[in-house]
Amino acid sequence: MLDIDKIRKDFPILETVKYKRPIVYFDNGATTQKPKVVTDTLTNFYLSKNANIHRAVHFLSQESTNAYETARTTIKSFLNASSEKEIIFTSGTTESINLVASSFGERFIFKGDEILISELEHHSNIVPWQFIAEKKGAIIKVIPMNNKGELILDNLDNLLSDKTKIVTLNQVSNSLGTINPVKKIIAAAHKKEIPVLIDGAQSVQHMKVDVQDLDADFFVFSGHKLYGPTGIGVLYGKEKWLEAMPPYKGGGDMIKKVSFEKTTYADLPLKFEAGTANYIDAIGLKSAIDYVQGVGLQNIAEYENDLLKYAEQKLKEVPNIIFYGTSVNKAATISFGIKGVHPTDVGTLLDKLDIAVRTGSHCTQPLMDFYGISGTIRASFAFYNMKEEIDYFTESLKKVVMMLT
Ligand code: ALA
Repeated sequence: MLDIDKIRKDFPILETVKYKRPIVYFDNGATTQKPKVVTDTLTNFYLSKNANIHRAVHFLSQESTNAYETARTTIKSFLNASSEKEIIFTSGTTESINLVASSFGERFIFKGDEILISELEHHSNIVPWQFIAEKKGAIIKVIPMNNKGELILDNLDNLLSDKTKIVTLNQVSNSLGTINPVKKIIAAAHKKEIPVLIDGAQSVQHMKVDVQDLDADFFVFSGHKLYGPTGIGVLYGKEKWLEAMPPYKGGGDMIKKVSFEKTTYADLPLKFEAGTANYIDAIGLKSAIDYVQGVGLQNIAEYENDLLKYAEQKLKEVPNIIFYGTSVNKAATISFGIKGVHPTDVGTLLDKLDIAVRTGSHCTQPLMDFYGISGTIRASFAFYNMKEEIDYFTESLKKVVMMLT
């Protein structure tokens, strides 16, 4: 099992006291805290190695370039991609999805085509597809969900029509924590030769992901939810798709030859990395992945699952609580409401008791519409959280409910 006391020392922010006690940080779905090794990597790089990548022969530039490309290799292994060409650095999940929607859509989506998404999606996996659907005259279709927050797959074969050009969904719901059976969905789509994009923003930090085993065509995630820096993320794409797709942005580093008459593009992965890449945060992300792998994703999954089950039981003690998303297949997130109380009021009072949760629609308004609510209170856990914090959270919630009802 994990040595939590030792792990917590790696995250200095967990000692923050605003009111009375060290913060109980249960907003890990929004962003995770950073181990000191990550911030040290960033600082050391800026102070002793920094130079722009891919551009100069001087030694600092060589060091930066090597470190950046080594980060790419780390991510290739982390996802078990087959080549570095399939790993594109972006600013995060949102940009990765926008890139695919725009570039894949430009090349492969036309009038009357269909894009299949799920009812559990974050706005970042809805709106970019609406942009391209509107531009091309395509149609968005939706895999529905049931009351437990699980996708209903009975009708999947019909939803995958001969007009479907892509399926796009998350592996783990950010609002509810539901783990979706993406391998099964990918297999069903592939029977009809339809590619699938998996949004891994809420999965890579909780479970081992193998893109070849999943057979995902695209897989995207953000560094900052994986204990790494903000502003860096990844798009994994099968080489055959990335080769066929046009560049998303134009600029330096993504070209082979430029003249005023015609430009040819760089080979993968640089074709999709115009301008100065966010190379230092990519190097920081490598450091975060090394750290997480040092703890062990299997250990993390088991520990967090234990926390989740404990929290599910404990929170039943809270009067008037309503749980949203009750699938047995969940990552470390609990969403709930309190009858007759606005989620923001609960969040505000919990903050005064040194507890950080997220309240609101969690950028999933269609999902909230399904339940007929405006938002939930979401506690999302990381492997530095403890059962003692869940006990304190439960007792604090009881007090808050007493005050508000
Ligand atoms: N997508 C992030 C969340 O779920 C911000 O909170």
